[in-house]
Amino acid sequence: MKTTDQTARIIIRPLREEDLPGFVEVDYRQTGKRREAYWRDRFAHFTRRHPLSCLVAEMEGVGVVASVLGDVRGWEFGVPEGTGWIEGINVRPDLQGTGIASRLLDQLLGYFRQAGVKRVFSVVDWEQEEAIGLFRSHGFRRGDFIAFEKKL
Ligand SMILES: CC(C)(COP(=O)(O)OP(=O)(O)OC[C@H]1O[C@@H](n2cnc3c(N)ncnc32)[C@H](O)[C@@H]1OP(=O)(O)O)[C@@H](O)C(=O)NCCC(=O)NCCS
Repeated sequence: MKTTDQTARIIIRPLREEDLPGFVEVDYRQTGKRREAYWRDRFAHFTRRHPLSCLVAEMEGVGVVASVLGDVRGWEFGVPEGTGWIEGINVRPDLQGTGIASRLLDQLLGYFRQAGVKRVFSVVDWEQEEAIGLFRSHGFRRGDFIAFEKKL
C-alpha cells in the first residue's frame, strides 16, 4: 500500500450537507459525470436519515476525497430489520491504494457493531476487482443472494 504525507492529513467524519460540491467532484473524477441534482436529493436523505453511517474522508486544505454511504434497515429482499447496508464507497482516483477506503470501512463497521447490527450487505460488479479485494480484506464473503437481470 502506498502511504503519503497527504494521507496523514485525512480525517474521517460524518457526511454533512455542505460536502455536496466535494462529493460531486469525487464522483465526477470517478465516473466523468457531474450529477449534482441527483446527489443533492440523495444527500438530503442520507444526512437526515443516516447521519452516523454516511462518512467522508476529508483532507486538510483539500476537502472531501472519499466517502462511504451506509445505513441500517430491513425488509428489502426479505432481509430482517437491523441489517447494515453499504450502498457505495468511493475514493478519489489519484488517492486510491493508500488505505482511505479501509479507514472508512473500519469506522462504518464499528458504527454498525455499536448499533447492534449482526449482518452487513453490499453489492459489487464482478469487474470491480478493487472493490471485491476491499470487501474480502475486511472479512466479507460472497453471500447467498443471487442477482437477477433482464435486458429490455
Ligand atoms: C474500491 C475502492 C473504494 C478502494 O479504495 P482504496 O482507498 O483504494 O482502498 P485501500 O487502499 O483502503 O485498500 C484496501 C484493500 O482493498 C483492496 N484493493 C484496493 N485496491 C485494489 C486493487 N486495485 N485490486 C485489488 N484489490 C484492491 C486490497 O485488499 C486492499 O488491502 P491491502 O492494501 O491490505 O491489500 C476504490 O478503488 C474505488 O473508489 N473504486 C471505484 C469505486 C468502486 O468500485 N467502489 C466500490 C463499489 S461501490
